[in-house]
Amino acid sequence: MATSSGVGSGGALDQERVQAFLERVITDSGAAVAGLCTSLGDRLGLYTAMAGAGPLTSAQLAARTGLVERYVREWLAAQVAGEYVSYAPDTDTYLLPAEHAAVLADPELPTYAAGFFTAMQALYATEDALMEAFRTGEGVGWEEHSTALFAGTAKFFRPGYAAALVPEWLAALEGVREKLERGARVADVGCGYGYSTTLMARAFPRSQFHGFDFHRPSIEAARGIADEEGLADRVSFEVATAQDYPGEDFDLITFFDCLHDTGDPGGALHHAEEALADGGTCMVVEPNASANAQENAHPVGRALTAASVAVCLPSALAQHGPRALGNHAGEETMREIADEAGLHHWRLAAESPLNRVYAVGR
Ligand SMILES: C[S@@+](CC[C@H](N)C(=O)[O-])C[C@H]1O[C@@H](n2cnc3c(N)ncnc32)[C@H](O)[C@@H]1O
Repeated sequence: MATSSGVGSGGALDQERVQAFLERVITDSGAAVAGLCTSLGDRLGLYTAMAGAGPLTSAQLAARTGLVERYVREWLAAQVAGEYVSYAPDTDTYLLPAEHAAVLADPELPTYAAGFFTAMQALYATEDALMEAFRTGEGVGWEEHSTALFAGTAKFFRPGYAAALVPEWLAALEGVREKLERGARVADVGCGYGYSTTLMARAFPRSQFHGFDFHRPSIEAARGIADEEGLADRVSFEVATAQDYPGEDFDLITFFDCLHDTGDPGGALHHAEEALADGGTCMVVEPNASANAQENAHPVGRALTAASVAVCLPSALAQHGPRALGNHAGEETMREIADEAGLHHWRLAAESPLNRVYAVGR
């Protein structure tokens, strides 16, 4: 039903559309608050304790997790309201369905998605700095965020890498798997916590892997993870920028969800071109988001583009380089930057809902 009362534009408002959109925004506000409960469930081990446990009372879940029952009961009520957990009033018990456990409880599964919520704490905490940045045009550096962002980013991307990196993405690069099996030199640039590095190192014991990142706390975390996994013989991590890491004759240079975060992606690719061995390959993994904003109007595109506002663009701007791309600059732009850097061969090698994987070479 259209009425004559307009807001702002002075046009007639379709009240049904207003109500529908209001419901949408209320749903989103519920999701924004409930995300905190998802993160608590993930980090406090509540989902893990419920996975496969069958129906539990709040007291039983509290005992399993060593947490205070009153808080656990409140958390469970929110989980029931969000339909993550079901409730049986006759027995006063709560159940995490197996299908939900596959998404919330086990970081080793490719469907695990709870990790993203760890990063939320950091994203929301950035709001004041972002307001200032919107006014001044300055950046907010990656290193200015809290550990929640670094750990959350690693947890968010890891399941996708674990599922596809070795069996699909590396297999889609011509001749690379064979080189890695024989023994190759690999640089993983902007490696963060280095899950991509250690996943490759586990699969290819004859190769040497060098992870680089300009963020010291991430490099320290990556070293700890590689040590725990017993991979120190073939993996090293060093603090270095994407434009100046040491080493040459790399058979493979990888960029996992980081090239667009640098202030000088062209400089990073130029350095990679110089550091590649003859016949070497760059693997550029970028978020699967389009340069056309309308094409990102789906759940993954929404998450990615919002993350670009909060982190990717400000991180690149803080580096005061020639380009701040954001995470949806699109294939054509990335390809042109690679071409200018002397990497003239560019091919979309693989794709997942979250990532596009490009094979790039001289
Ligand atoms: C979104 S995170 C991705 C981390 C990791 N590759 C992953 O996939 O989980 C981006 C990473 O790029 C790193 N980074 C940003 N600019 C950089 C630069 N100029 N040189 C080196 N690393 C950089 C950040 O420190 C951060 O670890």
